[in-house]
Amino acid sequence: MRQRFVRILWSSLFLYELFCLFLAGILRDHPPHFLPAPLPGLLEGVFLLATLLPVYLLLSFRGFLPRRRFLNATFFFFYFATGIFLAGFLAAEGAIGLHNLLFSGSFIQGTRRWNEAESVGALLLACLLAIALFERLRPPRVLARTLFFPSIPPDIGGTTILHMSDLHVGSWQGEKSLGRIARMAQALSPDILVYTGDMIDHRPEEVLIFSRIFGGIRGRLGTVAVLGNHEYWTLGGEAREIMKGSGVTILRNESLLLRKGRGMIRIVGVDDPAGEGEGPGCGPDLGQSLRDLQPGEFVVALVHQPTLWEGKLMAVADLTLSGHTHGGQIGGRRPLWNLARAFFRYDAGFFESPDPALRGHVLHVSTGLGYYGIPVRLGMTPEMTLITLRPAGNPADSSRGPSGQS
Ligand SMILES: [Fe+2]
Repeated sequence: MRQRFVRILWSSLFLYELFCLFLAGILRDHPPHFLPAPLPGLLEGVFLLATLLPVYLLLSFRGFLPRRRFLNATFFFFYFATGIFLAGFLAAEGAIGLHNLLFSGSFIQGTRRWNEAESVGALLLACLLAIALFERLRPPRVLARTLFFPSIPPDIGGTTILHMSDLHVGSWQGEKSLGRIARMAQALSPDILVYTGDMIDHRPEEVLIFSRIFGGIRGRLGTVAVLGNHEYWTLGGEAREIMKGSGVTILRNESLLLRKGRGMIRIVGVDDPAGEGEGPGCGPDLGQSLRDLQPGEFVVALVHQPTLWEGKLMAVADLTLSGHTHGGQIGGRRPLWNLARAFFRYDAGFFESPDPALRGHVLHVSTGLGYYGIPVRLGMTPEMTLITLRPAGNPADSSRGPSGQS
């Protein structure tokens, strides 16, 4: 997975450099009029320097240079800010040009038009940065959903699962905001608490921070997790053993049977593809994960990456919980577009199996609670999801449809 990520970065480098040179050309020929001298020249210099950032990023991913979080973040922020400015600039340029064509009959280029377009680009960027700051200070939202399943044993009805994902402890969140998340989770007092990976971000010592802040929060029936790519990138093949001390049961291609009255829920944890090559037992092994399943059990599967849902897991698991995408951190929930939709079929939210024979088998992709790359979210507020399981077929549920999502 990491190798694929590096390959994607390498292949996009050429396009990225073209993009930077194009913008540098605009800056040189049309220095932003709203900046007093010598800022435009300085900006152009910074801009050209920033074009070296992807080279650093790629070399650090290859292990030739140390990974510096602030440089990684600078790269992502630079891409984000210039992209938004350019979008505003080009949209304004097009709109002004169209206006000129319609009302004065000519598609005139001119300094004034460039200045106006630059102002619109800068204003758009300033507005979005203000919104991002506002979003950053808000508490995460609690998404409460009741799901109805025909296969659920009566005693399991009413069971609550708190789904948290992608905390990325240590990355862009102070202990104060992490403590607020922990208190919110504690107040929800779930029967089952699950983490679907990326509890930590990039340093081994973050395991201690996770343990200290979240280790005391328990689901009444159980507290379980699967590893994500960041655990493997940071801790390697020892990730499961190191995370064991955090008070959470890590499921790596295995399952756990939880009992409530006479009802039972089988929690299956499938390991992350980032574990492949990290040692014995690491990486996804569906056969191993499902070996203890008994017929008729209600199955909740945990995976970090939602792509693992497709295939046999979709057929076996009544409910699959995942994360990884962060909802792209930028954009809206369906039917709106978000950045994750460019990369993932299952980007954010609830999905029902497309196979008619598996109607009612549900995947939930959490948009997560943390940050990766840039410390902001736009329209993708951090979230935790409280799912209540109910048996389908109650008269009160008749209006909710076969998948039973409310
Ligand atoms: Fe993540």
